[in-house]
This record gives sequence, C-alpha cells and structure tokens, in this order.
Amino acid sequence: MSGVTLTPRPSLAGRLDAACDRQARVIAGIKGEAMGGSDSDYEFGSGEDELTRLEHQGRALAAATRMIFAAAGIRAGMRVLDLGCGAGDVAFVAADLVGPEGSVIGVDRSPQALARARLRAGQRGLTRVEFAAGDIHDPAPGGPFDAIVGRLILMYVPDPAAVLRRQATVLRAGGLVVPIELDIPMARALPATPLVSQALAWVVEAFARGGIQPALGTRLWAILGEAGLRPLGMLGIQPHYPPGDPGASTGGLPGVIYAAAPLIERTGVATAEEIGAETFALRLRAELQANQAVFAYPLLLSAWGTTDGA
Ligand SMILES: C[S@@+](CC[C@H](N)C(=O)[O-])C[C@H]1O[C@@H](n2cnc3c(N)ncnc32)[C@H](O)[C@@H]1O
Repeated sequence: MSGVTLTPRPSLAGRLDAACDRQARVIAGIKGEAMGGSDSDYEFGSGEDELTRLEHQGRALAAATRMIFAAAGIRAGMRVLDLGCGAGDVAFVAADLVGPEGSVIGVDRSPQALARARLRAGQRGLTRVEFAAGDIHDPAPGGPFDAIVGRLILMYVPDPAAVLRRQATVLRAGGLVVPIELDIPMARALPATPLVSQALAWVVEAFARGGIQPALGTRLWAILGEAGLRPLGMLGIQPHYPPGDPGASTGGLPGVIYAAAPLIERTGVATAEEIGAETFALRLRAELQANQAVFAYPLLLSAWGTTDGA
C-alpha cells in the first residue's frame, strides 16, 4: 500500500465560519465526519465521509465505467469478481451488464465499505451481488470467475501486476481481466483556471510522494503483460462537466481535495492554509462559473486482457 501512515482527520470546527463550512461540505457532497477507519492502510480510510465521496464519485463515473466494461466484453450471464469494491458502485454497474443470469462478488478489506455496499445492494434488490471480506493480494473466494474487474484500486498497491497475477488463478481459462485506473494529469479546466490547476498539481505531487500512482492507467497494458496476461484492448474515457453542472463539485475535485488534504500536508506539498479544504468547493464553483469553464475529470483508462494462450 502507500506506506504512508493514516492521520486522523482534524476537526473542522472553529477553523472557519461554520455556515460557510457547512455550505462547502454540502457542495462537496460530504458530511464533515471523521475520516479514516480502523480497517486498513488505504490512504483515505473508510469513514462516513470517504464512503459518501465514493458514492458521489461512483455516480459520476458510472456511465464511463459501463462503456468500458461493455467494450471489454462484460456481458450477460458472466460471473464477475470486483476487486476493492468500496461502497459497491462498480459491482452495481457490472451487475447491470451481467443481468439476472450472471452474478457479481465484490471484495474489500474494509468492513465499513462492505456494510455500505450490502446495504445499497439490498436497497436495489440485487440478490445476485455479494460482498466478501478479503485482501486483493489473496486469490478471491467464489471462483472461477468469467471476468475480474476493479476500479481505482491498483493505484494504491505497490505491485499491481502481482495482484492481477494472484487473482488470475481464480479466473477461468479465457476469462477477462478489466482494471480501470486514472490518468490524473489529464484533468483540467477548459479554459484553464488557477484554482483547478493548483489543486490538481497538489494532488498529483502528493499522490506520487505518498506512493499512490496518479497515472497508473497509462501503464495498464504493460501491467497485464507483467501479470502473465495477454492484453486485448484499451479504452480511455474522460467525463466532462459543463459550467454549472453539480457533477464538477459533487463527483470530483472538492471531495478529492477534502480527502487528500492530510496527505498533501503530510508530504509537504502544501499547508492546510494554502489548501483551504473547507472552502475549496465554494471557491471552485465560483471560479468555474466566473470563467464559464468546463471541468474535465481525470481520464479513466482501462487496458483489458485474458489468460495467456486463450
Ligand atoms: C478508491 S476506493 C475504490 C472503490 C471502488 N472500486 C470504486 O471505484 O468506487 C479503494 C477501495 O479499495 C479498498 N482496498 C484498498 N486496498 C485494499 C486491499 N489490499 N485489499 C482489499 N481492499 C482494498 C479500500 O478499502 C477501498 O474501499
């Protein structure tokens, strides 16, 4: 994992005007509750705020994720494994594609994330989606699988190829491996605006210093090969949010800045005062509106492959 110690989220109270802070949190789609969780060294933990952030992000990325899975060949009837399932959003996209004849099992080592994912699956009436506790470094139970997917998970592990190599042992011959990761440096405002450029530079630098790979998507083709898999195809999709679209706030940068602020500080990239996490969402919205700027989310990149010799 990142090799960086998780720091409890400091209280927001009293740091800035409370009303402003509340409004900023609403825009960012977060509640301001304690970050982190007792479960793992996943940099952003699995507190209420992080799970809510994942849900917002999941909504913003659902369409792109579905397009990538469909292009890679996820289809009706498949049994799919979702690595690092978080609050369940990727499993829900996969479940929609595999339909009632298929099934999905999501694996995560955070009990809080699994509880949230199970709750949401129940609310959706999804009886063919299960969630199981496990570390993605260990072959998942419940195989063999027709496809193994995972979104924004390999960027947090030191050896992504090793994870895919281990999980390939529970993939049926000729099955698919479809990881989706980011190219964060591709994110931007159109036209460029100072706060967006600054914040993205902080995130990229802090991730790199903290052992999180900000552009892992660009390496996925090579990683499949390193894992002993045969790459089949590659697709990148970059969601864009027009001026005024709440997705630019709730789905993206403010949530990331709020979650990553402790890492940005700890890695010496910027101070809490410079980041101003509590007012970031408000300032971002004002800047995008003033410039009538489109926000381009980081490029979502997938390279997919299959077992060698299939
Ligand atoms: C950024 S979230 C992504 C969640 C989900 N894939 C999505 O796109 O919404 C990363 C998730 O991976 C989980 N995770 C991180 N390292 C893990 C590991 N070694 N084994 C199992 N789960 C892990 C975390 O608990 C967290 O839920």
